[in-house]
Amino acid sequence: MIHLRRQLPYRPTERMNVVSYPIRDIVMEAKREEAKGKKMIYLNIGDPPQYGFEPFRVIADQVKVALAENWKGYAPSEGDEEFRNTVAKIEKCKPEDVFAVAGLTEGIDFFFHSFIGFGEKVLLPNPVYPLYLSKAKQFEGDSVFYRHDADGQIDVANLSKKIEGAKAMVIINPNNPLGSLYSEKNLAEVVKLCSEYDVPIFYDGSYDRLILEGKPVDFRKIARGKVPFIYGSSLSKDFSYTGARIGWVAFHGERWAEVKNAFFLLCNQRLSVNWEYQKAAAVAMVHPSYPAYIADMNRKLIERRNTFIKMAGKLPLSFPVPKGAFYAFIRIESQKWRKDLQFVRAALKEGVVFVPGSGFGRQEDGVYFRSTFLPEPHIIEEAFSKIKRLL
Ligand SMILES: Cc1ncc(COP(=O)(O)O)c(C=O)c1O
Repeated sequence: MIHLRRQLPYRPTERMNVVSYPIRDIVMEAKREEAKGKKMIYLNIGDPPQYGFEPFRVIADQVKVALAENWKGYAPSEGDEEFRNTVAKIEKCKPEDVFAVAGLTEGIDFFFHSFIGFGEKVLLPNPVYPLYLSKAKQFEGDSVFYRHDADGQIDVANLSKKIEGAKAMVIINPNNPLGSLYSEKNLAEVVKLCSEYDVPIFYDGSYDRLILEGKPVDFRKIARGKVPFIYGSSLSKDFSYTGARIGWVAFHGERWAEVKNAFFLLCNQRLSVNWEYQKAAAVAMVHPSYPAYIADMNRKLIERRNTFIKMAGKLPLSFPVPKGAFYAFIRIESQKWRKDLQFVRAALKEGVVFVPGSGFGRQEDGVYFRSTFLPEPHIIEEAFSKIKRLL
């Protein structure tokens, strides 16, 4: 009997049932197609270096300097002093309010772990970057979704019906997957509402330098003194250095002392974030050549976005014009497809990888998928020529 039990496959825990990451899950299916000899165009993941975007050079140069200076041990778990000082200057907060994290991914995990308890209501955008869905489930929070209008702005009337009793609200701006850039006016209205209902904000600024159209906004200026908030970002998108795994969260407002203490414990538990990359980030983030770097990246993204819009415009597809980041969240207007996964699988057979819209939360009014427009224009054109017959 004992012998038989030993031969059964090992089972993961029940809590694994809520862990998923649709952006990468679809890749397993794509790899199977590739193994059969099919050439695939990956439009599923927002990874700039994969599409020829060079990470900001100063980072790699400064990593070499840091390694030569022997910054190779465990860094202080809350973050390197120089790194926290640099971030504090950008955030206009105190260095003690800043925590280094292994990509904002870890910051999001720590936020839910430390602040969203069993049954506590957290307001999430719909559609939403999938990690938020997964983390809310993992920490047993109650996810309540707010909507966007046709321009991709936060629908404040809709939000006002849902906000009461929320423990926190998440804002992602520019938004993934919508590509929308919330205006100053829109954010000011949201801040006012949050302040009336005493709801603090977790602001995900992962793409805050990737502005393709419209006026850049500084949420810190809009919210400072009006509502407590946590601002998070990383080197992944704004510096095209996804592999660096360096991010930060900065606490703004007076009421966070106990939550910051909880962050401290979580940081201690995982010991450290790469020291040499924190040292490099401390220099790179305020380097005088960065504005030229980001202007060039945005220029390339605008060109690629425009090709994407032109190609999509020839098909029965609709989406708000992306004004920031590098994604479009696309609704299929043709009646051919009733299920997003069926469409995504059909596109995969044609050699193009997208993410089904349902991975970003339940979409009740239609069939959606998300695509990045990071690749060069000729690859975007090739992708559309491959999927055109499906629509
Ligand atoms: C909205 C958003 N937040 C957070 C992340 C996490 O990024 P990282 O952990 O690389 O900083 C991503 C990555 O795609 C994202 O799109």
